[in-house]
Amino acid sequence: MAREFARIGVVGLGTMGAGIVEVFARNGLEVIATEVNESALERGRGHLTGSTDRAVARGKLSAEDRDALLGRVTFAVGLSALGDADLVIEAVPEHLDLKQQIFSELDKVCKPEAILATNTSSLSVTEISVATTRPNQVVGMHFFNPAPIMRLVEIVKTVVTDPDVVVDVEALCARLGKVDVTINDRAGFIANALLFGYLNHAVAMYEARYVTREDVDAAMKLGCGLPMGPLALMDLIGLDTAYEILDTMYRRGGRDRRHAPAPLLKQMVTAGLLGRKSGRGFYTYEVPGSPAVISDDLTPGRVEVADGDVRQKIRKVGVIGSGTMATGIIEIFARAGYEVVSVTRGAERSAKLCEAVKGSLTKAVVRGKIEQEDSDAALSRVDWSIRLEHLSDADLVIEAVVEELTVKKALFASLDEICKPGTVLATTTSSLPVIECAVATGRPADVVGLHFFNPATVMDLVEVVHTIRTSPETVEVAKALVASLGKQPVVCADRAGFVVNALLFPYLNDAVRMVEVSYANADDIDYAMKLGCGYPMGPFELLDVIGLDVSLAIQRELYLEMREPGFAPAPLLEQLVTAGYLGRKVGRGFRDYRG
Ligand SMILES: NC(=O)c1ccc[n+]([C@@H]2O[C@H](COP(=O)([O-])OP(=O)(O)OC[C@H]3O[C@@H](n4cnc5c(N)ncnc54)[C@H](O)[C@@H]3O)[C@@H](O)[C@H]2O)c1
Repeated sequence: MAREFARIGVVGLGTMGAGIVEVFARNGLEVIATEVNESALERGRGHLTGSTDRAVARGKLSAEDRDALLGRVTFAVGLSALGDADLVIEAVPEHLDLKQQIFSELDKVCKPEAILATNTSSLSVTEISVATTRPNQVVGMHFFNPAPIMRLVEIVKTVVTDPDVVVDVEALCARLGKVDVTINDRAGFIANALLFGYLNHAVAMYEARYVTREDVDAAMKLGCGLPMGPLALMDLIGLDTAYEILDTMYRRGGRDRRHAPAPLLKQMVTAGLLGRKSGRGFYTYEVPGSPAVISDDLTPGRVEVADGDVRQKIRKVGVIGSGTMATGIIEIFARAGYEVVSVTRGAERSAKLCEAVKGSLTKAVVRGKIEQEDSDAALSRVDWSIRLEHLSDADLVIEAVVEELTVKKALFASLDEICKPGTVLATTTSSLPVIECAVATGRPADVVGLHFFNPATVMDLVEVVHTIRTSPETVEVAKALVASLGKQPVVCADRAGFVVNALLFPYLNDAVRMVEVSYANADDIDYAMKLGCGYPMGPFELLDVIGLDVSLAIQRELYLEMREPGFAPAPLLEQLVTAGYLGRKVGRGFRDYRG
């Protein structure tokens, strides 16, 4: 018989605790919500009423249900009110000594059969449990932020946790409508172990002025479909909490340099910039606790080159190549009203390419995205050619040919001979150094990377990559041009992986390592990232879609350029590629798609 949970205690009503109270009370459980003093208790009560009022305003909760929910919660200072709780969950700041002290007190106050749970993100549940006389009744219950919304709970068992306790807590999660994954006690568990290296890397990129805060966030939202950018997420988590999690993960998780908190984090925490909860972190918020971002002195102004100006400057666009990216790019420019010259290596290729663009435009008409006449007009703007010389009067040329440096360099050298002075020359490379293309010409100031994402007609992001030789004017024109296509430009320097791939692939590689050491399986990891962090796909689903060979090649590039030991490709990834398990395209990768 599964244990009955009627009354739940929550210790600490901050970012997580208040949300956890709401989750239990919403699902019909009585909750005793406790804090360290009266003012913190009031603040916690405010979080709960604020959140439930918002749910009512959005039509997600009726006013009666809200009142019933609040009626199930009693508030108290200190731990003495928790004597008859069936389970107590602790959500105080991420410090081991504080948590141990609380668990030792809970052990004295709570009835002998009560389960004691910690919401720690990174500390050792085992070390917390031994502060009690009942370590077999201690588990980790790691909720995700915001707790009422995110469906995942990581249940962390230690070597001494009673299996019945785990079963009971799993049943409780199901009653809350949550999906659980049960795992052993390791720093960062599944989700944070994969998330925090990425978040810290994003902070380091921002700190190094490689990319602006708006751009790094836009890049990950638009390039990977993530619900929030990394810096906005840091603000939601709380920078003090994030700092402690990273610090603990660094010390517990084998001193991986990628978890050593970026120096900027410490400075921000010391300055009281804790994120949303203090009203200011990477961004500035209307009031402390508010999700509404307001402008501050870092908020960028408008793109300096206006749409009209860029269309004056760039009328004719050359697109070289006949693959997937070239097809999409031709369509985008033609639809945006630019005159396009497509150049391929042969008439047959051009004919196929023309058919592909036509087919895609027809689909857009059928789906009601554009009118037939717009589709016809777009097609009429494209000239199909097999001679680079036809690009002599183009104002911008984009190459999307095979990802081989010698080919691209030779092409840029030819373009240098053919194109009129002032033509912006762009490469769509996703992994080669843009500077190599630039110095193959006698006009490196005019060369820029325009990294479109696949499918180019759908993905709203373009990374605008400047080399150390690109002129500011070229960057401005490239930005305005991207904006004129209805896409978001993100400006970054010429480094392996630019922004998106540099942040994405190490995370995917880390997920492979996690499977490799048998900490969790691919299904649990995919669940954790989708339900805990709101990712549209889990890392293994994504690896299979991207292709394991492509992923390995990108990860190798990153490793070779950064020489970061943590970026070394996971041996399992190498083995799967060697075995020909390349992902969906061959029917088998991490998962089997045959039959
Ligand atoms: N923030 C997140 O995104 C997130 C996500 C999952 C788990 N966690 C974990 O949840 C825990 C809480 O983090 P948070 O972000 O909610 O922190 P927080 O700073 O927002 O809230 C902590 C709360 O604990 C209270 N507190 C401090 N000492 C106390 C005591 N002795 N008794 C009772 N209450 C006390 C504080 O007054 C504060 O309200 C941490 O272990 C953290 O790692 C955080």
